[in-house]
Amino acid sequence: MSANFHFINHACFILEKDGHTAIFDPFLDGNPEGLKAADIKVDYIFISHAHFDHIGSAFEIAKHCGATIISTAEVAGLAGEAGCQAHGMHVGGTYTFPFGKVRLTLAFHGSGVAGGHACGFVVDFYGIKLYFAGDTGLFGDMALLPKLDPFTYAVLPIGGNFTMDPHDAALAAEMLQAKYVIPVHYNTWPPIAQDVEAYKKDVEAHTASKVLIVVPGETIPLEV
Ligand code: NI
Ligand code: MN
Repeated sequence: MSANFHFINHACFILEKDGHTAIFDPFLDGNPEGLKAADIKVDYIFISHAHFDHIGSAFEIAKHCGATIISTAEVAGLAGEAGCQAHGMHVGGTYTFPFGKVRLTLAFHGSGVAGGHACGFVVDFYGIKLYFAGDTGLFGDMALLPKLDPFTYAVLPIGGNFTMDPHDAALAAEMLQAKYVIPVHYNTWPPIAQDVEAYKKDVEAHTASKVLIVVPGETIPLEV
């Protein structure tokens, strides 16, 4: 039995459970393993919004390996037009896939596509229970999320400028009450350079959550 989180780079990661795989926001530029779209073989692709650093190589990956894209209706519509298999959802909606339940959450951020919204996801991927905030500013309704679905991991942007910074993401951690917080979306470019060790100290001093610092290219085992 295996359950892993493989951090590719920026806000892109792969969940793996017993050989089943899902990639989130597959932006591959600059990843230290030199992974290209053709190297990625997954069952599902989650896309939080259509900014280039999130939609990334999604369509190319979906086309070569037949993965199903899960996103908002607008992004799923673009994926369908591009010849990809896609399942459209929308903010506040839930759906039970063969692997488990998905909830599309609010994310206060641009969608990168006309008429759309950015989103986050609460996912039960074969027992891996995780909240991926996508790109978002801090919002108080994050406190509702653990009341709606249980999750063990919260994957949060901490880079600032485009999203929550470490100060705001520490307040998010307080509301989310996840056992583990995994910071992402920082240090990719100068405007989002942050001290992740300071973030870890802050969160661990003020909440019961433990912060897992995962470096690009690294894989960590997950609790299910
Ligand atoms: Ni964005
Ligand atoms: Mn982004």
